[in-house]
Amino acid sequence: MLKENVVLESVMLDQLPLKNRVVVAPMTRVSTKGDGIPTKTMEEYYRRYAEGGFGLIIAEGTYTDRSFSQAYPNQPGITNEQQQKGWEHIVHSTHEAGGKIILQLMHAGALSQHLSNTRSASCVQPIRHMLEGYSEKQGSFPLPQAMNLSEIDDVITGFSDSAIRAKEAGFDGVEIHAANGYLLDQFLTDYTNTREDQYGGSLKNRCRLTTEIVSSIKRLAFNNFIVGVRVSQGKVNDFDYTWPNGLLDGKLIFNSLKEAGADYIHFASEGKGFDHGCLTKNGESLPKLAREVTGLKVIANGGLDNVKEATRIIEEGHADLVALGTGALANPDWPIKLKNMKKILPFNPDMFSLGVSIEDQFNWENKNETAGL
Ligand SMILES: Cc1cc2nc3c(=O)[nH]c(=O)nc-3n(C[C@H](O)[C@H](O)[C@H](O)COP(=O)(O)O)c2cc1C
Repeated sequence: MLKENVVLESVMLDQLPLKNRVVVAPMTRVSTKGDGIPTKTMEEYYRRYAEGGFGLIIAEGTYTDRSFSQAYPNQPGITNEQQQKGWEHIVHSTHEAGGKIILQLMHAGALSQHLSNTRSASCVQPIRHMLEGYSEKQGSFPLPQAMNLSEIDDVITGFSDSAIRAKEAGFDGVEIHAANGYLLDQFLTDYTNTREDQYGGSLKNRCRLTTEIVSSIKRLAFNNFIVGVRVSQGKVNDFDYTWPNGLLDGKLIFNSLKEAGADYIHFASEGKGFDHGCLTKNGESLPKLAREVTGLKVIANGGLDNVKEATRIIEEGHADLVALGTGALANPDWPIKLKNMKKILPFNPDMFSLGVSIEDQFNWENKNETAGL
């Protein structure tokens, strides 16, 4: 009998048993009707990843308060009863189909394409331009105001209250989005954080907002509720950024997350593959370091729908799990395809030719019949 591919082995994510090591990466789909309430179409979208055999689904970046956190028009939130209820249907349906689902909690900070009045670590103009396809706004981001201490407290409360709602909605956990240049990454990064208080200066201080959020959620002491953190070097407005002190920065960040009580670390790559996003400028593996220094489970990302590459990442000890973004969009049944040795399709960027929403994707698939379902 053929030996099963290592990525299809079952694994424990802290106390959560997963049937394999394959994860759907969080992907913003701007699919609500403007009220932030998750819809029936979103339920269908998430359910098919569960039916497609993914061990874990990390649902899209969801805003945490109604002041300054929303990134995009039509992004889902988890800030009131109706939004919570919408998520509850999705969680129920995903669980019913045998899936596990974690919600990514996100604050956009200076990189909001929804708000004109934004907040960040410091009053620093974000570099480059807004993303295409997610909102009608284009061009430069607005100049943010620096958060005062009371606004920072509100951010922490927003994340904790959202985690409480996520737990009540039945999620298996939450992932704190500290990657890709959004608010928590704006605090982490030296060129966007020029503060002189306890949230600025040293890297330890710049990690503080993220670690305070993690510990405030862990203090709620929910049983069987995972709290992970997503970090990255690259940013949506600075793809090629690397941590200035490579492994040294990694060691401090990963240890701080562990001390705060994080249950896993998810290392994101900005769409140019694992090596581009996950290695230091000297070629060392940051996800591998995260495993070594913390002993926590680590998820890696970046072009890992390529089976050979995903297998290498697990076998060489870079990570315990692999998260698929665009590869999951093209193959919502990727794990089943791998198990049955069926052809895995490449991602076709035309999928977003009608728009980024799930409805647009489904319409495009119906036209092209490429979803392979
Ligand atoms: C449409 C789309 C939306 C995304 N939204 C998010 C998000 O909400 N949160 C996040 O952490 N990353 C987001 N990402 C990044 C992906 O999670 C992933 O890191 C990226 O696609 C690289 O992985 P891949 O090479 O497997 O595609 C998004 C990517 C895409 C394509």
